[in-house]
Amino acid sequence: MEPIKITDSVYWVGGIDWKLRSFHGYRTPRGSTYNAYLIIDEKVTLIDTVKSYLVDELIARVSKIIDPSKIDYIISNHVEMDHSGGIPRLMELAPNAVIYTSFPNGEKGLKRHYKKDFNFKPVKTGDSLNIGKRTLSFVTVPMIHWPDNMITYSAYDKILFSNDAFGQHIASTQRFDDEIGLDILIEEAKSYYANIVLPYGAQVQGALKVVSALDIEVICPSHGLLIRSYIQGVLNSYADWCVCKDDGTAIVVYDTMWGSTEKMAYAVMNAFEAKGIKARLFGLQQNHYSDIMTHAMTAKYICVGSPTLNNNMLPTVAAFLTYMKGLAPKGKIGFAFGSYGWSGQSVGQVEEALKECKFELLDNFVKIPYIPDEEELDKLTAQLIEKI
Ligand code: FEO
Repeated sequence: MEPIKITDSVYWVGGIDWKLRSFHGYRTPRGSTYNAYLIIDEKVTLIDTVKSYLVDELIARVSKIIDPSKIDYIISNHVEMDHSGGIPRLMELAPNAVIYTSFPNGEKGLKRHYKKDFNFKPVKTGDSLNIGKRTLSFVTVPMIHWPDNMITYSAYDKILFSNDAFGQHIASTQRFDDEIGLDILIEEAKSYYANIVLPYGAQVQGALKVVSALDIEVICPSHGLLIRSYIQGVLNSYADWCVCKDDGTAIVVYDTMWGSTEKMAYAVMNAFEAKGIKARLFGLQQNHYSDIMTHAMTAKYICVGSPTLNNNMLPTVAAFLTYMKGLAPKGKIGFAFGSYGWSGQSVGQVEEALKECKFELLDNFVKIPYIPDEEELDKLTAQLIEKI
């Protein structure tokens, strides 16, 4: 429960959630952290808090530096409870603290969550707060990830407290990007972006313009590693992800009842292989839809297969398509396929769902009754080779 020094007077004092494996439906195999930061200046300032069940961890870390009752200001960059959940307890310890939050949604959101008349000071882009040697500047970044989000910049420290932006779900004793490495940082930042930030590309583009004008030595997000060595790498990745830039790859996603749709999935894969296009196969019985979504974000082609069960696509396929539609990846090319016994509605339903995602179609859907034979599978492969 030690605080981690970022500079002489700025500390990481957050909580480590080693056990977290799902973040509102998004699989988090490495756990996560909720990052809070303490600035010791003439006014003692805490930036964000932690989930309520980790508040003792935060308080223990703060207490190694200063009595928590001496906190003058709490900057709440985001209402969501993974960052605001510690506020009620901290306000018991430091009842005179002033809470800086965005106008109007931060204040409204915190009031709705905690039903307390704390001393709120709502702020907008361009507002700032002098805490002694430092002046903290606020920029609202609505929808990264909720309407209330803001980021806080300390020019004195050249630190950007970016909240959900640039986060990654990684629980670790290491706090900095270069202690873990670029590969894992980008892998988890990509998964985080695909599953949390993806619908808000336009807002991210706006935020990147603001961020690129700042002199930054450390990005301190609200989840995962602090970024000091790979800042440009992360900014470049965000610039690609926010426009949903594809890498030319394909994914083939399917579920199967008796193996027939699976055979078709392999036939679809064969078409990409024949064209020299990197492709990955994801069975929905073996893969969680949030893991698939990370690949979907940068794929060019998204092919989805389902057999028909009780006049519908399989529930696993419906769940994936619903999840993907909500995250709204842009500029993709889709294809629907599947086997069926007698009615076969599922394949048309999958195609409709791909259209609702605003995907172009590679070709009209293909459905094959009962068990596809080699000739039918080869025909499917050949048909797709023509279209890719
Ligand atoms: Fe990490 Fe939107 O909360």
